[in-house]
Amino acid sequence: MSKPLVGIIMGSQSDLVVMKEAAEVLEELKVPYELTIVSAHRTPLRMVHYASEARSRGLKVIIAGAGGAAHLPGMVASVTTLPVIGVPVKSSNSIDGWDSVLSILQMPAGVPVATVALNGARNAGILAAQIIGSSDKKTAGRLDVFKESLKTKVEQAAEEIEKKGWRKSL
Ligand code: RP5
Repeated sequence: MSKPLVGIIMGSQSDLVVMKEAAEVLEELKVPYELTIVSAHRTPLRMVHYASEARSRGLKVIIAGAGGAAHLPGMVASVTTLPVIGVPVKSSNSIDGWDSVLSILQMPAGVPVATVALNGARNAGILAAQIIGSSDKKTAGRLDVFKESLKTKVEQAAEEIEKKGWRKSL
């Protein structure tokens, strides 16, 4: 098993239903990752330890997901210089999702978090793979194939809708 390059962390086990999508796409793209729970509020020292050791353990990117008062991605970004991708989770304690989005998005100058859409863990995984792919040809090649498959799917759908008409294509 290769050493993980991407660290996927989340504030609670309840985030897993969303965050597993980052893991799934990294598996599709054959990017080694690790996945665990690190809570900014419930395990602050574990969070600082995880973020401060991440680079020396060989990680290249961290994906952090949390909901509600979602401080995990920003606090991790404050401790490491690795790129941090934030996933706002619409969790049980989230009012309407905006709380999660804004908590992760509105970082102060100097401490960026690359924030994806609400529950956008799959995109977080793809973005992490793209960061790895910027210096790894094999990953870049797999991303080319992946992007091509997106194009093919749209072209096939377009052909179907044009042939059958929109009613029959529903
Ligand atoms: C956040 O609170 C977690 O990231 C999760 O999204 C939310 C709810 O956590 P649980 O109460 O389900 O553990 O910190």
